[in-house]
Amino acid sequence: MRLDQFVSQSTGMPRSEAQKLIRWGRVRADGKGITKPATHIGPQAVVTLDGAAISLPGAIYIMLHKPAGVVSATEDPAHRTVMDLIDHPHRHTLHVVGRLDKDTTGLLLVTNDGDWSHRLMSPKHHVPKTYLATLAEPLVEAAAEQLRAGVQLHGEKGLTKPAAVEILPACQARITLHEGKYHQVKRMFAAVGNRVEALHRERIGGLLLDPQLPVGKWRDVLITEIHLPPLESSLI
Ligand code: URA
Repeated sequence: MRLDQFVSQSTGMPRSEAQKLIRWGRVRADGKGITKPATHIGPQAVVTLDGAAISLPGAIYIMLHKPAGVVSATEDPAHRTVMDLIDHPHRHTLHVVGRLDKDTTGLLLVTNDGDWSHRLMSPKHHVPKTYLATLAEPLVEAAAEQLRAGVQLHGEKGLTKPAAVEILPACQARITLHEGKYHQVKRMFAAVGNRVEALHRERIGGLLLDPQLPVGKWRDVLITEIHLPPLESSLI
């Protein structure tokens, strides 16, 4: 790993700050002063900053109750991002697991564990995601059946994969997908002549949005929650 990456990840400071500290000679690896930020250090290296040992954080798993109006990105020149809501000391090391649209609310996962986010989001793993949609028109059974079987989205090759669809009162519907095309839920309801007016993600795999978590707040995901088995595919 590069020394500047190590310093940035272990202190939570941006990479550019870490590079400055290294150039100023405040960082040592295995007792040697190193002033080149790109220097590679081994996995067992003992790194100090101003004489105090620093170490990499362990894996971080966060659930955020995303509000509407913030973008699911780590940085954005024009808009508030979900990272602005996460006052974690290692926030610079984190990335978002599967984006939500700016106006979508609900469960958003944030981590520094690239393998975990890949497993949750890769189309190969078919991890189900459940959304509560508020629609412009009540969803009729024939349209729900079409959505369950698969609909053709503009610009996509095949039909959407089988989905679970539950018709709810007050123009709402719950839909569970095993894939994640761009704006998929909104495009699917549009394909059956309806329109999504509000969208909320309730669940990813076995992980439910904590009903006690207020909008805009985050909490650590417990290790027991991370190892929950994925939602049964018998839902579909
Ligand atoms: N599908 C959408 O259309 N929007 C989202 O934010 C998530 C899924």
